Amino acid sequence: MILVLDYGSQYNQLITRRIREFGVYSELHSHRITIEEIKAINPKGIILSGGPHSVYGENSFRVNEAIFDLGIPVLGICYGMQLITQHFGGTVERSSQREYGKADIAVTDGAQLFIGTPNEQTVWMSHSDKVVAAPADFVVEATNPSTPIVAMRHQDKEIYGVQFHPEVRNTIYGNDILRNFVFNISGCTGDWTMANFVEQEVAKLQEKVGDRKVLCALSGGVDSSVVAALIHKAIGDQLTCIFVDHGLLRKHEGDMVMETFRDGFNMNIIRIDAKERFMNKLRGVSDPEQKRKIIGNEFIYVFDDEAARLKDMDFLAQGTLYTDIVESGTETAQTIKSHHNVGGLPEDMQFELLEPLNTLFKDEVRALGIELGVPEAVVWRQPFPGPGLGIRVLGEVTDEKVEIVRESDAILREEIKLAGLEREIWQYFTVLPDIRSVGVMGDARTYDHTIGIRAVTSIDGMTSDWARIPWDVLEKISTRIVNEVDHVNRVVYDVTSKPPATIEWE
Ligand code: XMP
Repeated sequence: MILVLDYGSQYNQLITRRIREFGVYSELHSHRITIEEIKAINPKGIILSGGPHSVYGENSFRVNEAIFDLGIPVLGICYGMQLITQHFGGTVERSSQREYGKADIAVTDGAQLFIGTPNEQTVWMSHSDKVVAAPADFVVEATNPSTPIVAMRHQDKEIYGVQFHPEVRNTIYGNDILRNFVFNISGCTGDWTMANFVEQEVAKLQEKVGDRKVLCALSGGVDSSVVAALIHKAIGDQLTCIFVDHGLLRKHEGDMVMETFRDGFNMNIIRIDAKERFMNKLRGVSDPEQKRKIIGNEFIYVFDDEAARLKDMDFLAQGTLYTDIVESGTETAQTIKSHHNVGGLPEDMQFELLEPLNTLFKDEVRALGIELGVPEAVVWRQPFPGPGLGIRVLGEVTDEKVEIVRESDAILREEIKLAGLEREIWQYFTVLPDIRSVGVMGDARTYDHTIGIRAVTSIDGMTSDWARIPWDVLEKISTRIVNEVDHVNRVVYDVTSKPPATIEWE
């Protein structure tokens, strides 16, 4: 296990990911972690991440200096290297000028971090301050004209520092450098696989739950599906899933969830048809935020009612991911839309929480799903918002409008699949704006709805670009929607990126 301490760099999650890609478990923790906590984790190596501060700044993040006496190898990256320098008596030069981008470096003979890499190589720099004098006990491992000490190591202890970012792809041999630290220096073995993860988690869950009962809100999305499959593997029938069908799901989605989990996995699932409840609450409401809040709250009420009926449940399982935990720590982002996730925890519920995915990244959850036998269609399902089609019908939600979105969405999905574009496009769906326009069909004037197609490419949903779907595919989609979906006489394609637009229209 490699422990990464977070000093605020935008790249620090990336360090953990890279190491996990080597088959070595790694976690990111606050730099405020205590020595006792570190000892309890018992890592084989510690990485001090980069960060935006200057070690001389008044409120800069510090390092608990006892870390250097634990006998555990330490690698400082950027700010982390500067902390090491300061602790061991070297000099960090304060600078307001930033060195940002690629830099060519020269590696010195015998450099331990660079074993197996060329003497001349390109790295990615992003720093203002730099080390100008290495501490007395350190030897320089790499240099370059503008940064004389690009990398260094302690003569006797396993303590290293690099000014550049090995975790960023632009550092050509970054993976080799990290591997040297993780395997050669820290002695990790690389046996962290999904199969091992399942084995360990199943054992942990069995021990924690014992003969008690677990409730899980299953939405059919990747996270809740994988969490249900994992817990089911561990405790079988002690798990009960509640699947709230709010009537705002895509075509056949509800039946597919039931087929997959009730028939495929033989799970206890209660499907609640709550369409009327939701539609009643939504009647006459057209403000997007209000709609979101109504749907989110109603979800909890429905779930709550059902959970109360079940009575003897002890745990509530949630598909919380590692990123949810790490990101909620910063809380700096402005609320653009109030996101609602299935299975929000009602405050007055007396459950213990089970969150077995909370150490995993999204792609790892997918790999885990495959390992557990969750079908590819679920594991690779495109993101679908909790409020469902309710926020794709703009303005007031009515049965007729939901049906138009559902049918047009089904056609779009079919054609994207036929064109083999499913994996390339992050998300694709149709929206129904609250407008009508004039058309002509079979010599007659029409005055009907417009359907908007939204298809975007993205890495994480935070930013996105509109997908360049080939014209002929768009043409087919448009023709089919106008011909096959009643009350639609026009189809438009959304060519806005995020920002300035968002992915969903509401
Ligand atoms: P926006 O529209 O904010 O969406 O650009 C970013 C991503 O989040 C999804 N989304 C949601 N997911 N509950 C969710 O679980 C929600 O309330 C919600 N709203 C938006 C959206 O589909 C996109 O993938």
